[in-house]
Amino acid sequence: MAQEQQSGQETAQKVAPATGKLGVMVVGLGAVATTMIAGVEAVRRGLAKPIGSLTQMGTIRLGKRTDNNSPFIKDFVPLAKLDDLVFTGWDIFEDDVYESAAHAEVLKPETLQQLKPYLETIKPLPAVFDQYYVKRLHGTHVKKGKNKRDLAEQVRADIRAFKKGVDRVVMIWAGSTEIFLEPSAVHQSIEAFEKGLESNDPGIAPSQIYAYAALTEGVPFANGAPNLTVDVPAMIELSKRNAAPICGKDFKTGQTFMKTVLAPAFKARMLGVSGWFSTNILGNRDGEVLDEPQSFKTKEESKLGSLEYIFQPELYPDLYSDIYHKIRINYYPPRGDDKEAWDNIDIFGWLGYPMQIKVNFLCRDSILAAPVALDLVLFLDLARRTPDLKSIGIQEWLSFYLKSPQTAEGLYPEHDLFIQFMKLKNTLRHIMGQDLITHLGLDYYD
Ligand SMILES: NC(=O)c1ccc[n+]([C@@H]2O[C@H](COP(=O)([O-])OP(=O)(O)OC[C@H]3O[C@@H](n4cnc5c(N)ncnc54)[C@H](O)[C@@H]3O)[C@@H](O)[C@H]2O)c1
Repeated sequence: MAQEQQSGQETAQKVAPATGKLGVMVVGLGAVATTMIAGVEAVRRGLAKPIGSLTQMGTIRLGKRTDNNSPFIKDFVPLAKLDDLVFTGWDIFEDDVYESAAHAEVLKPETLQQLKPYLETIKPLPAVFDQYYVKRLHGTHVKKGKNKRDLAEQVRADIRAFKKGVDRVVMIWAGSTEIFLEPSAVHQSIEAFEKGLESNDPGIAPSQIYAYAALTEGVPFANGAPNLTVDVPAMIELSKRNAAPICGKDFKTGQTFMKTVLAPAFKARMLGVSGWFSTNILGNRDGEVLDEPQSFKTKEESKLGSLEYIFQPELYPDLYSDIYHKIRINYYPPRGDDKEAWDNIDIFGWLGYPMQIKVNFLCRDSILAAPVALDLVLFLDLARRTPDLKSIGIQEWLSFYLKSPQTAEGLYPEHDLFIQFMKLKNTLRHIMGQDLITHLGLDYYD
């Protein structure tokens, strides 16, 4: 065995092939969702490349560096092909995907025009919605039911109807950020949750009604927003019981993506940090929803966590025990989906001498998020077909994509992007019976 690797032969799995159609049910057909769907169609037609998508463009090294063996990830693991994706979704507005994409103003009108005949065929199903949980929106295209249980049953019926035309299904939440909710008694077991559905417990948000319906139907569920949703014992139990994988929450795309790249670099060089101020302006509907304090609180909690875990102040009190970390999101309509983010980082080096770093990221929010959403869908579908992964519930190896990774109880979340990336690739090697790569490499010098 090469010293650089750990043997993976005995871990070979029988991953079921990705035959037939993969149905993708998207909750919330807004900017991110429509950019993903239109993008997939543009790639299918050869109009553009799937840039930003690891599943479509990434490679994975197998064996030693001298083996020169780095296949594309999509050729190495059996992923659903873009041609086999079938989309549907729910929204509180009746706009089809073409109208909604046009409203979001992320993709150019000429691009959307080319895709129009396809995009206008995807019309949202009526949503489960309650304005108590997203104050800034007034939904008109919503389901009516006698209680939350009834609404969950209606979503289950939607899933079963959609399943008739496809071979497998994955659900992804690309809906709005809900108000901040903390886990309560109703979330502690499946039984308590089901009673809560009957009694309309206010602790159960619409996102949890969708997630409950998905997991009950054996459908993997990804959460692109910072909502509590599946981050509670009842959902983890349901995920394991029905072999319906889940992962963390909140797409890691802009400022937090940069944070989880820069912070590990400071820590690696033992540079201290005294302050990190992040502010940004954003003018899309997401920005409008986040302008409301209770939805912002949910987002803020999700964004704040990463630095604390990366810096480990308990291990490095001289460097990181006194960081002033502040995050601001400002709704500023003129910029639409083109977010601008500023970070001021106060660091200190040798003998405590202070320095500053400024990061000014002019990004396109949904252009960054769409490939992340696509990859999560494809990898969750893979997990569902993989014996070693399908019944473990949380897929920690997908933390790479998320601001708030979810972990087994008692484990701290890993936020460092490069550790997350290594974990993701080693998971793929593991399930395909390949040796893991440790980067030791002493055998090259024998
Ligand atoms: N774009 C990014 O980079 C990024 C990064 C991280 C997280 N997110 C999160 O992803 C989510 C989507 O972002 P977006 O920019 O597409 O927002 P958006 O406002 O354009 O789209 C959200 C859509 O969800 C719909 N919706 C709200 N509640 C619903 C419900 N209960 N059922 C069905 N539909 C519902 C809204 O009507 C809207 O069409 C937001 O929560 C956002 O915070 C986005």
